Amino acid sequence: MDKLAIIGGRPLYGRLKISGAKNSALKVMVASLLTDKPLRLTNVPDLADIRQLSTLLQQHGVDLRRDGDDMTLHADTITSTLAPYDLVRKMRASFNVLGPLLAREGEAKVSLPGGCAIGARPVDLHLKALEAMGAEIELDEGYVLAKAKNGLKGAHITFPFVSVGATEHAMMAATLADGETILDNAAREPEIIDLATCLIAMGADITGAGTPTITIRGKDRLEEAEHAVLPDRIETGSYAMAVGVTAGELTLENARADLLGAAISTLIECGIEITEVENGLRVKKNGGRIKGVDVVTQPFPGFPTDLQAQFMALMATADGASTIKETIFENRFMHVPELGRMGADIHVDGQVASVRGKPKLKGAQVMATDLRASMSLVLAGLGAEGQTMISRLYHLDRGFERLEEKLQNVGALVERVRDDT
Ligand code: UD1
Repeated sequence: MDKLAIIGGRPLYGRLKISGAKNSALKVMVASLLTDKPLRLTNVPDLADIRQLSTLLQQHGVDLRRDGDDMTLHADTITSTLAPYDLVRKMRASFNVLGPLLAREGEAKVSLPGGCAIGARPVDLHLKALEAMGAEIELDEGYVLAKAKNGLKGAHITFPFVSVGATEHAMMAATLADGETILDNAAREPEIIDLATCLIAMGADITGAGTPTITIRGKDRLEEAEHAVLPDRIETGSYAMAVGVTAGELTLENARADLLGAAISTLIECGIEITEVENGLRVKKNGGRIKGVDVVTQPFPGFPTDLQAQFMALMATADGASTIKETIFENRFMHVPELGRMGADIHVDGQVASVRGKPKLKGAQVMATDLRASMSLVLAGLGAEGQTMISRLYHLDRGFERLEEKLQNVGALVERVRDDT
């Protein structure tokens, strides 16, 4: 299994291109199931999660072609409405094929999902939304069996709390439902707006995406379309923090400040300079230490849970103490013991981590535990004294495109090493 070797302490200088957003690309790829016409996507990142979903969609009958960052998906005929355990278990986003298959074919059998081990992550809100639209749902041996023989019907759905996946799932299914669907307490993440923009290009009638109330008026069919996936805000935030843990100046090409929500003001408060430049963001930090700042993860536009682990690595060497409260997932502090191996002083009490910043961390052998936690170890390694060796790299490969190449190009000493032990 591959490992990542990092020699810390080098400042980062240069230009680094931000890829298309994984979490957006996955959902717009699924949207291709809603039409028998081709969907052309640009800015699709090349990641393990994208390849995994491609295999699942092909299994449903989608003719999928990839050429660099471009992808064409054509679901002319759905050849199977079954999404098997082996293809769904590795990634939670694959569960979202259920609604589109049901809306288009009147039935689907989809395995309950997997994904990062960051909490219970049930799918009850997804299923309740589909049931409200008239689907009959049964659970059997780890599979969801859903039927809507006469098609889905528009419904008024109020989510009890904000869920990105359930909002996206209901929005997609409602595009082909009979009548109007209203989603209240909907998620407002940029990926929701991106999916809505793609669906609207396909002919869907959607208003309010990006606000807590989304209205979808169902159509009989959706059409051919083209869509450019928005840049990855989590990759952007992670590389901005990489400048914070080292020093230097990076131009993050394609990055957009408006996608970062509260993260941007938090990073500026820490002492990282961020300025908008043409087609990107310039991120700069001089020699001194970062300031300790408290954060609470929240749905967008709050501080994103997907940057919490990386922010903890930044705070581990900040000047002063900070608290980090995780409110979205109940088990998202698995990086704490690994950062501890590098000398970080972090104490967890329930959903709150208290971090006392130290001038330096020390390189160590550590283990990636989930996707974003892996990136926090990369950041810690970039700032640490000596060598850090990160194992279980497959987590990183799920979500950060060409990580070591991007970091090497801006001066980091990072290398992937084969380990046959
Ligand atoms: C998506 C992102 C993930 C991000 C998360 C929150 C993708 C592929 N993943 O995940 O990277 O961390 O949003 O921004 O886009 N919940 C339920 N029942 C449900 C659905 C969710 O209890 O039916 C809970 C979850 O366990 C979690 C919370 O709601 O505690 C928020 O989850 P949700 O917003 O749905 O996250 P995902 O869509 O899974």
